[in-house]
Amino acid sequence: MDVIFNRRSIRRYKKQAVEPDKVEKLLRAAMQAPSAVNQQPWEFIVVQNKGGLERLAGISAYSKMVAEAPLAIVLLGNEDRMRLQHHWEQDMAAAAQNILLEAAYLGLGGVWLGVAPMKDRMDLISELYGLKSKLRPFCVIPIGYPEEGQEHKYVDRFDSNRVHYEVY
Ligand SMILES: Cc1cc2nc3c(=O)[nH]c(=O)nc-3n(C[C@H](O)[C@H](O)[C@H](O)COP(=O)(O)O)c2cc1C
Repeated sequence: MDVIFNRRSIRRYKKQAVEPDKVEKLLRAAMQAPSAVNQQPWEFIVVQNKGGLERLAGISAYSKMVAEAPLAIVLLGNEDRMRLQHHWEQDMAAAAQNILLEAAYLGLGGVWLGVAPMKDRMDLISELYGLKSKLRPFCVIPIGYPEEGQEHKYVDRFDSNRVHYEVY
């Protein structure tokens, strides 16, 4: 898949809105992710209003680009759906990666902004949306059409020294 190799974190976006059918495709991609015992613990908050995006930008010093994005998706894990609680972060990470890959495929770009397990960031999001404690904020992904100079492009990270055949 070309998008696996070409995907880059995109942190600056055109003002152009993301079409609703593309937003749905991003969410569909997320929900296709593998998860432990197929528990699918995810829920999503889609944020498109300027005030909401500006508030989300405040979750950390490294999230400022959210204020300038046309769209952000907040990924939440719902404890009610966690039959295997200890795998929730792996499940959510798979969904996050699917969103980033689908975004690249659609000509969009995004960046994974880490939230869990940092309690301060999780608490800020919980307060922002008045979330019940069973909902665990996992990450935030701002998305938009890449600004000039922010293209997806291949960077070769393959390192044969990291690969061990049969023995280490
Ligand atoms: C768990 C996680 C947390 C991250 N948090 C941030 C963040 O807070 N702000 C940011 O700008 N990028 C964040 N990133 C993006 C990484 O910086 C980026 O993926 C990495 O530099 C590799 O670049 P690439 O995505 O273009 O391949 C995060 C990525 C991951 C997987």
